[in-house]
Amino acid sequence: MAGPLALGILVSGRGSNMEAVLDAIGAGQLDAEVRVVLSDVESAPALRTALSRGVPALHIPTGKYRTRLSDEAEKEWVRVLREHGVEVIALAGFMRMIHETILSAFAGRIVNIHPALLPAFPGLHGQRQALDYGAKVAGCTVHFVNEGMDTGPIIGQRVVRVEADDTEQSLSARILEQEHELYPECLQLLAEGRLRIDGRRVRILSAQDALRKECNDPSG
Ligand code: GAR
Repeated sequence: MAGPLALGILVSGRGSNMEAVLDAIGAGQLDAEVRVVLSDVESAPALRTALSRGVPALHIPTGKYRTRLSDEAEKEWVRVLREHGVEVIALAGFMRMIHETILSAFAGRIVNIHPALLPAFPGLHGQRQALDYGAKVAGCTVHFVNEGMDTGPIIGQRVVRVEADDTEQSLSARILEQEHELYPECLQLLAEGRLRIDGRRVRILSAQDALRKECNDPSG
């Protein structure tokens, strides 16, 4: 991938992770460009925020299902993402499962952030699940997306200690601070071509090794 990483961000709600990515780009910490923000929720605050920051942002219909996009809808999402020149999709609080059509169109180029230390507590309300379970540490995970629910190879994680008096809200707030640092960091590794998926493992190459590999195989 030459030049800044061309990102498409998928959101369903508030969009604070999307903002963290935009902030990191603005601060020169992330060599990327957000080409488009797409949402399954017409009223998602993230769409308004993206537009106010000069990023194209669209609501696209999802089809008949509640928890996923229909196959027809996925085709349309892929079309719009391609139309905007998106290379990598970053899910940022996107609350639907991604299926075959999008997965195959962007194979190995879809990442997600999840508010728990995977493989513990996948799915909804990862922070609440950790509290209810009595875990002493919680955290967040950035991972590649595969066909499972939060099961793809892990790129990075941050640990947050659970305090005795934590509520779902207080724990979520501390995890979110870590999310906002971790997501841009992981995306920068992707932008630098430093991630290699090796079975379940994601290897992080040194900047030098990544450069060497790119020279030997410019297709990446
Ligand atoms: C974040 O905590 C993110 O990790 C989580 O939703 C929140 C979105 O916040 N994602 C999931 O739970 C996905 N399973 P944001 O809209 O402010 O970025």
